[in-house]
Amino acid sequence: MKLLILNGPNLNLLGLREPGIYGTENYQSLLRRIEDYCAEKGVEVCFYQSNHEGFLVDRIQQAYGECDGIVFNPGAYTHTSIALLDALKAVGIPTVEVHISDVTKREEFRQISYLRAACFATISGHGTDGYLEAVDLHLAREASL
Ligand code: DQA
Repeated sequence: MKLLILNGPNLNLLGLREPGIYGTENYQSLLRRIEDYCAEKGVEVCFYQSNHEGFLVDRIQQAYGECDGIVFNPGAYTHTSIALLDALKAVGIPTVEVHISDVTKREEFRQISYLRAACFATISGHGTDGYLEAVDLHLAREASL
C-alpha cells in the first residue's frame, strides 16, 4: 500500500505555530515519525505540503493511479474548499481527514468540514499521533476488503 500524507496551509510551521493548540513537534520531525511508523508497517509513503489550494488540488489529481490512500490535514481549507472536496471525489482515493486539534471544541467557523463528505474517517484532537492512527485506519480498511 502506498499512502500520500498531504498537509495544507501553515502545517509546515508546526512546532512554532500556536504550540498550546498544535503541540511542540516540528513538521520535519513529524514526517520522520510517520516515515518510521510506515516502514515498520510495510507501508510506502510520500509527503506533500502546500500553502496553496490549487497546488493541493494538483497533488490530489497526481495521486490518481499512484497512491492507494491519502492522509489529509487540509488546515484552514477544511472549512472553505469545495475545490479540494471535488478533487477528492474526482479521484476517489480513500482518504482519512486528520486534525491535530479538536476542531469540534473550537470556533464556530471550524465546525464545518467541506472535505468530510469525501473521507471515510476523521481523526480530530489526537495531536500529531492522529496521523499514525490514520495510517492504521487505512491498513484496517485494506484488510477488511
Ligand atoms: C487544523 C485545524 C484547522 O481548523 C486549522 O485551520 C489548521 C489546523 C488542525 O490540524 O487541527 O490549520 O486542521
